Amino acid sequence: MKIFEEIESEVQSYARSFPRVFNKAQGCHLFDEDGTKYLDFLAGAGTLNYGHNNPILKQKLVDYIMEDGITHGLDLHTKAKGEFLETFKQYILEPRDLEYVMQFTGPTGTNAVEAAMKLARNVTGRENIITFTNGFHGCSLGALAATGNSHHRGVAGTTLGGVSRVPFDGYLGDDIETTEYLDKVLSDSSSGIDHPAAVLVETVQGEGGINAASMDWLKNLDAVCKKHDVLMIVDDIQAGCGRTGTFFSFEPAGIKPDIVTMSKSISGYGLPFAIVLFRPELDEWKPGEHNGTFRGNNLAFVTAKAAIETYWKDDSFAKEVRRKGQYIEDRLNAITDELGEGNFSVRGRGMMRGINCVSGDLANQITKACFKQNLMIETSGADDQVVKFLCPLIISDEDLKHGLDIVERSIREVCAKTDEMPEERSYFDENYDIAS
Ligand SMILES: Cc1ncc(COP(=O)(O)O)c(C=O)c1O
Repeated sequence: MKIFEEIESEVQSYARSFPRVFNKAQGCHLFDEDGTKYLDFLAGAGTLNYGHNNPILKQKLVDYIMEDGITHGLDLHTKAKGEFLETFKQYILEPRDLEYVMQFTGPTGTNAVEAAMKLARNVTGRENIITFTNGFHGCSLGALAATGNSHHRGVAGTTLGGVSRVPFDGYLGDDIETTEYLDKVLSDSSSGIDHPAAVLVETVQGEGGINAASMDWLKNLDAVCKKHDVLMIVDDIQAGCGRTGTFFSFEPAGIKPDIVTMSKSISGYGLPFAIVLFRPELDEWKPGEHNGTFRGNNLAFVTAKAAIETYWKDDSFAKEVRRKGQYIEDRLNAITDELGEGNFSVRGRGMMRGINCVSGDLANQITKACFKQNLMIETSGADDQVVKFLCPLIISDEDLKHGLDIVERSIREVCAKTDEMPEERSYFDENYDIAS
């Protein structure tokens, strides 16, 4: 560990929560250099939906490398890119009746958000972008302006402008429909909110504390955007690629955003890769206007294509995500009902779930207790008060149950109710047909 303390910057974050030297990974597990096995409920912050070193994707990648396939291609046309585009069109866009062009940006999420915001501003000729309380969109300056978190905003070192923040769904309580507020301020030329180019929204706020917008709210937001001639950008970087139970997180709302950003699990293998999808009419880019050296990670094209072919040719994988998501929800509800003393609540959608423990200190104690039992799980939210469940979507029923048992034991331990927990406990076996 000495070398990390010696020369790695203080900026490191996840390494502080999980102070081990990791060496190998397979499926839902990581192994440290001593060979200790950890169950991964963090999944690279939502990057490893298909697990670590997914064998199907790995084989395609190894074959491609052994054949001297192109690794870095700027934005050249390559066979790997062409095949990825074909596959994405055939299995993702066409079945959902979505007509989008695809822009390849620099390889991290924040790059895609920057491009989406820039495009919306240039197409409309307006600067302002509506973003939401507790939203997280990245740490480069444009995306950071759209991010709510003061910890990240605090080090910008410059003005973060060009956005107006409005309350997300539920921010003012369950009974207040915040899209009505948006409609009102956009209808009032003296509201002080400039006519925006776009709204930028996560359907489930990941870093903001697993706040899931309702389908009605998303529909209403879409209607407000249309009414005021404002583009809708869905940031699907964390909630997309099946995490919530459909490929795009907005599908159940029946909306078709003008612009969609994707990254994290789009490569399927943890390889850096980000894209922006948008309606063809918005494609006003001039050649090279939004450039970047690493827009052609061909290794990621290979694994992204393999991931789509393996998991998205039909609805069976998505159905599995929904089944396991229901199991997680019901188990978390049972845990919080019994142990939360009326304070804890369950949030999220599909396999993007959280327990709001109200206190960041408590949530932190719970995740620490989990790590002592070799479960890696993180927190999110303004005060890190939400224990955040992001396990790989391919997790087996057995591992899922095992991880939730650890969480339950940890909550009992932290809430000093240890003696009540049987060694291995499993709820709902029959209901969910989760194999024991
Ligand atoms: C919704 C969302 N947008 C953007 C980002 C930024 O992505 P990156 O960290 O790859 O820049 C994240 C990262 O967590 C995210 O969750």
